[in-house]
Amino acid sequence: MSVKQRHILVTSALPYANGSIHLGHLVEYIQTDIWVRFQKMQGQRCTYVCADDAHGTPIMLRAQKEGISPEALIARTDKEHRADFAGFYVDFDNFHSTHSDENRELAETIYKKLRANGYIETRTIEQAYDPEKEMFLPDRFIKGTCPRCGAEDQYGDNCEVCGATYAPTELKHPVSAISGATPIQKKSEHYFFNLPALEPMLREWTRGKHMQPEISNKLNEWFESGLQQWDISRDAPYFGFEIPDAPGKYFYVWLDAPMGYMASFKNLCDKDKSLNFDDYWKADSDYEVYHFIGKDIAYFHTLFWPATLHGAGYRKPSAVFCHGFLTVNNQKMSKSRGTFITARTYLDNLNPEYLRYYFAAKLGSGIDDIDLNLEDFTLRVNSDLVGKVVNIASRCAGYINKKFAGRLDPGCAAPELYNDFVTAGDKIAALYEKREFGHAMREIMALADRTNEYIDEQKPWSLSKEAGKESEVLAIYSMGINLFRLLMIYLKPVLPKMAEASEAFLHIEPLTWADSATPLTDHTISKFKPLMTRIEQEKIDRMVYASQENLTPTHIKKERTATMNIEPIAEQIEFDDFAKIDLRIARIVKADHVEGADKLLQLTLDIGEDKTRNVFAGIKSAYAPEDLEGKLTVMVANLKPRKMRFGLSEGMVMAAGPGGKDLWILEPHEGAQPGMRVK
Ligand code: MSP
Ligand code: ZN
Repeated sequence: MSVKQRHILVTSALPYANGSIHLGHLVEYIQTDIWVRFQKMQGQRCTYVCADDAHGTPIMLRAQKEGISPEALIARTDKEHRADFAGFYVDFDNFHSTHSDENRELAETIYKKLRANGYIETRTIEQAYDPEKEMFLPDRFIKGTCPRCGAEDQYGDNCEVCGATYAPTELKHPVSAISGATPIQKKSEHYFFNLPALEPMLREWTRGKHMQPEISNKLNEWFESGLQQWDISRDAPYFGFEIPDAPGKYFYVWLDAPMGYMASFKNLCDKDKSLNFDDYWKADSDYEVYHFIGKDIAYFHTLFWPATLHGAGYRKPSAVFCHGFLTVNNQKMSKSRGTFITARTYLDNLNPEYLRYYFAAKLGSGIDDIDLNLEDFTLRVNSDLVGKVVNIASRCAGYINKKFAGRLDPGCAAPELYNDFVTAGDKIAALYEKREFGHAMREIMALADRTNEYIDEQKPWSLSKEAGKESEVLAIYSMGINLFRLLMIYLKPVLPKMAEASEAFLHIEPLTWADSATPLTDHTISKFKPLMTRIEQEKIDRMVYASQENLTPTHIKKERTATMNIEPIAEQIEFDDFAKIDLRIARIVKADHVEGADKLLQLTLDIGEDKTRNVFAGIKSAYAPEDLEGKLTVMVANLKPRKMRFGLSEGMVMAAGPGGKDLWILEPHEGAQPGMRVK
């Protein structure tokens, strides 16, 4: 059966050039890489490109803060990102940058086409401006007091304390987060892409097979609330490309970012003459283009991007594949819990293929969030990969090597079983194609179980004790090796390194999907070397420990064995810092439950002033209010009052313990009087 080779261009979202790759990002790059490797194993012409997203205000400001040029910053990040991706075997055919000649050319060309086709308009708008720094301020660089609850230091357009959302102009006492100056409103001319003009095309396109139904439905809501003109210009100073014929105006980062996909591909075409840019991007191309992205950036990829392409006369993507967000132990990744784990910290401690397999086992074609449960991670990888798959090779190789110098049986001992596995391979391939990786992994593990059962039933170890049974035993173990080989074909998109080690062990050429059709017979294999070792809990502890917000110098952290329930000691402070803390004896006059709070109690404290203090303390798990009334405790009396969702908290009560029920407030001995200073 010969099928026409497909031409497929695949992208992952372009990571911002001002931050490190973390495990959240890796959900996407690993998902994409698995899909691409699968396509290549199937013999398709599949090309995977990516780039750093190098433009925009945060990158400009970050470089300024470090006292380097944006070019130097993005060059450094480029190196770091490439090394991180290589560490996880994410195998781009090309990795480029949006700050490149190819991208500048594309951005200008596409913009001019949009303009010629009547999609660009200009309008003067008013925006927050930092008079000191002399720049317009994006929302997230304005902070101030929440207009609803009065909490201070709230960024941009939402309050972290009460959850209110508002326009940044509604913030009370707004200041620029960059200079501290009070922003003024200033007018400037902006360039807009007339998105509503393309609404009929977009409505049609987003209804079709080009995205998951969840995304399609979400877009419907956006259509209902009406498409807006898209502001594509930013005023200097800005790190990006200047707009043609508009000095001092720059393309907004999100305009040229997706063009970076094309720019990276263009850069590759210039190096590899067997690829032709226009074949892939011309309006009537029958080649395939797929974008893998996180659900947070669906809007850009399913509205703005196809509109841009269409408006400028290019083809639109064949599909946009969204994935959900990563949580660790069912919570958002957190620096204080040590679950905000960078690619580098992971690689310093663990084998990347553990994570590739775990993500594969968890990924489906939908947009649900995926959870990395560190306990489940260890169990799953150890039991599936080491316990089931590697075990097959290790239990079969010894005998063949020892008694037959590695020569496999000339026949196939259980041809029906072999054929079952080949048929299962078609189903597994269909699952990979649909990005149902979790389902595919379950099918593969079921085959691994069947292989182990086959060996258990045949009992070659007891047969080998009988005289004259050598060739029968060889046939069974050879069958085991052949089934193992099929498993490695099916796992190869997920575990490229282990597949490579298996190819060396089996002494064969790189496996392709088509190799499954025929078993290995009359062939000599090499000595077995462990293909993967078990995850050790200690390594996970170390990784989490090393990920905790930098409190101790890294070299000390690395050497220590982690004791997870003890938090690292915080950075040293000067005596003067300590002396600033005013600790007072306080009497708990009253303790109450707080409506709507799971952890807090409201305490009324007497510290000898004529007015009592109101404090919210997170000790509800350990104390009933009635147990506290009348008790003495120690409080920080000069802590700046803090607006909380439930009211003003005027200090902090001292408590110790691991938390939950085991939490003790400090109770000074008799003789202590409210208001006494604790020294
Ligand atoms: N620069 C833009 C993308 C431009 S594409 C033309 C961007 N960069 S990013 O670095 O913030 O994110 C890169 C990709 O990683 C995005 O698809 C994003 O959804 C994904 N993820 C970032 N954090 C993630 C998790 N915690 N979980 C899963 N995916 C995550 O957005
Ligand atoms: Zn608020």
